[in-house]
Amino acid sequence: MSEESNLTPESVDTTNGMPMLGLGTWQNDDPDQCVETVSTALEMGYRYIDTAQAYDNETSVGEGIRSSAVDRDEVFLATKLWYDQLDRDTIVESTQASLDRLSVDSVDLLYPHWPAGSYDAEATMDGFAELVDTGAIERVGLSNFTPELIEEARSVSDVPIFALQVECHPLFQQERLREYCADAGIELVAYSPLARGAVFDVPEIEEVARKHGVSEAQVSLAWLNEHGITAIPKATGPDHLRDNLGAATLDLDPADVQTIDDIDRKERQINPSFAPDSW
Ligand SMILES: NC(=O)c1ccc[n+]([C@@H]2O[C@H](COP(=O)([O-])OP(=O)(O)OC[C@H]3O[C@@H](n4cnc5c(N)ncnc54)[C@H](OP(=O)(O)O)[C@@H]3O)[C@@H](O)[C@H]2O)c1
Repeated sequence: MSEESNLTPESVDTTNGMPMLGLGTWQNDDPDQCVETVSTALEMGYRYIDTAQAYDNETSVGEGIRSSAVDRDEVFLATKLWYDQLDRDTIVESTQASLDRLSVDSVDLLYPHWPAGSYDAEATMDGFAELVDTGAIERVGLSNFTPELIEEARSVSDVPIFALQVECHPLFQQERLREYCADAGIELVAYSPLARGAVFDVPEIEEVARKHGVSEAQVSLAWLNEHGITAIPKATGPDHLRDNLGAATLDLDPADVQTIDDIDRKERQINPSFAPDSW
C-alpha cells in the first residue's frame, strides 16, 4: 500500500461479494488522469471501479488497475454496454471489445447502460446469459430500468439480475425502486450519489455533517450505506477519494438518517431524451 493509505479494504462492507463503496469514472476521460485516479484509489483501499463503454476510458481504467499494487482478482470491476450495442448479434463481440480495452478476462458485473436504442428484453437478456455461460461476465445488472422494465427483463432472463444501477441520493431517494429491489433481492447501486455536487448545499445534510465533524459528501454516502445501498461516487484527486472512502466508517445515528429521509425534494440530475417512459 502507498503512503496514501488511511483505510484498509476491510473497512468497506460488501454485499453479495460487491463492495458497498466504489469509484465512479464518468468524465474522468483524460487518459493519464484516469490511470492515476484508478491506481491511487485502489492503493487507498477502494476495491470497486465502475466504468462504461460510453465513458471512453476503459483502456485507462484497465491500465490504472494494472499499475496499482492491487491484484485484478481483488477488484470488483463493472462496465456497461452502450444502447446501440444491445442486439443479440452485437453483444458478445462488443463485450469482448470492452474486455480487450480493459485488458481483463472477465468483468464482475455488466449492465445494459440504458433500456433504449437496440435494447430488446428477450434478445439482450439472451446475449447476457451467453456471456455468463462463457465466463466473460460474472453477474448481470440493469441500469436506468423502471420496475416495469426490470419485471420484463427478469421474466425472460435465464440468469438472475444481480444489481440495478440508478440515480439515487438524498435529493432523489428512489423509494419505489428501493422497495422493489428489496423485495426482488436485487442490489441497488446509486449513481451520482453526491447529486453531482448538489448535496453540498442542503441545510439538513450540512447540519448532520457539522454534528459529526465530517463532510456533506461523507454524510450522503453514509446515508446510502445505512439503507443498504452501494454508492459509486466519482472523484478525481486524492482529497476527494480519501474523503469519500471515509464514509465507509461513518456511523450515522437513526435520527440523522431520519433527518435525511425527511428531505422531500425530487431533484433528478440525469434525464436524457432516451430515458424510459414513466421514468
Ligand atoms: N448508469 C448511468 O447511467 C450513470 C449515470 C451517471 C453516473 N454514473 C456512474 O456514477 C458515478 C458517479 O456519478 P457522477 O459522476 O454523476 O456524480 P457524483 O459522484 O454524484 O459527483 C461527482 C462530482 O462530485 C465531486 N466530488 C467527489 N467527491 C467529492 C468530495 N468528497 N468533496 C467535494 N466534491 C467531490 C467530483 O469532483 P472531482 O471529480 O473533481 O473529484 C465531481 O465533480 C459516475 O462517475 C459513473 O460511474 C452512471
